[in-house]
Amino acid sequence: MSSLQRILFLSLLAVFLSSAPTDDIHAKSGDDVILHCHDPSKPSILRLRWIRPDLISEGYIYFFREGRSYDQFQHPDFHGRVKLRDPEMKDGNLSVILKHFSISDTGTYECHVGGNNAGSGHEIVNIIHLKVEADQRNITAEAGDNVTLPCQVPRNTQILVVEWIRPDLEPEYVFMYKNGQPVPDHQHPSFKNRVELKDGGMKDGNLSVILKNVMMDDTGTYECHVYQSQRNHTMSIINLNVHQPAGHTEEGGKKDGHVGPTVGVTVIVLLVVVVGFIIYKISKRAGKTEE
Ligand SMILES: *[C@@H]1O[C@H](CO)[C@@H](O)[C@H](O)[C@H]1NC(C)=O
Ligand SMILES: *[C@@H]1O[C@H](CO)[C@@H](O)[C@H](O)[C@H]1NC(C)=O
Ligand SMILES: *[C@@H]1O[C@H](CO)[C@@H](O)[C@H](O)[C@H]1NC(C)=O
Ligand SMILES: *[C@@H]1O[C@H](CO)[C@@H](O)[C@H](O)[C@H]1NC(C)=O
Ligand SMILES: *[C@@H]1O[C@H](CO)[C@@H](O)[C@H](O)[C@H]1NC(C)=O
Repeated sequence: MSSLQRILFLSLLAVFLSSAPTDDIHAKSGDDVILHCHDPSKPSILRLRWIRPDLISEGYIYFFREGRSYDQFQHPDFHGRVKLRDPEMKDGNLSVILKHFSISDTGTYECHVGGNNAGSGHEIVNIIHLKVEADQRNITAEAGDNVTLPCQVPRNTQILVVEWIRPDLEPEYVFMYKNGQPVPDHQHPSFKNRVELKDGGMKDGNLSVILKNVMMDDTGTYECHVYQSQRNHTMSIINLNVHQPAGHTEEGGKKDGHVGPTVGVTVIVLLVVVVGFIIYKISKRAGKTEE
């Protein structure tokens, strides 16, 4: 092969590898997640490797060779949690089930097929981006309310930073908590002294904040982001809608407007009746005196 041919060949190989299908999957803590992989071209699979490129130095997610899986080559975090969806791999079905999703399982998973022990010559069949499914909610409140914006991670989750943001604001920070302390720098001025964590801490992974004395301008989208040492996750997306308290609404004003004309009409009708009666009496008396 000339060097030009080699470059062409390598580019084609790169295009082929990067054309492996890519899936995005979202999961909640505790879910069992199916990582899909399908390779119909190889009915008798000798080697199947599920890997996380960022964890490969500590082992495979799942390793299968010549009829059986090998736990000793598996990353310790995945022991006992990964199994083939179809143990017979019928029709090239190489999907696995990852049991009991936790937020540290967030990452990129690759399904590799074939190759020798050194790992060369294998093919990437599927790439999966596994992410946390954010808790999405709509919350309605009245101006003046204290509103809880919910955000929850599993107990004992190691967290470096929690941030609540309003992406449409500049600066966007509603609340930031770092190394066990609130960080007031960069906070948008309208949230100063109005946002706090329950009991001032993050007990049992409860990262919900209380937004005090909400105003119409607080209407918008709030996101709770959590940073771990290697990763970050969007845990909650909350649409808050703040409206005027009942009684101060336009409807109340309309009611007053209705009362006015009703009273006015009643008074006019009474006046007409009384005046008419007087005119009738007067004209009757006038008729009598003429006789
Ligand atoms: C893989 O196997 C599972 C379980 O038997 C089945 O539900 C799924 O449809 C199969 N997927 C494919 C692509 O054949
Ligand atoms: C929030 O409200 C929008 C429309 O206002 C609706 O489409 C959406 O499904 C709601 N989301 C939830 C989680 O209730
Ligand atoms: C909101 O919380 C404050 C104390 O943090 C309290 O004084 C106030 O009464 C609360 N407002 C409402 C509407 O509950
Ligand atoms: C988390 O804290 C919020 C705000 O204090 C509270 O309303 C909520 O019930 C708590 N959630 C759990 C699961 O304890
Ligand atoms: C958050 O994680 C994503 C990948 O999941 C990454 O692309 C992004 O740069 C991270 N953001 C920060 C601020 O670390």
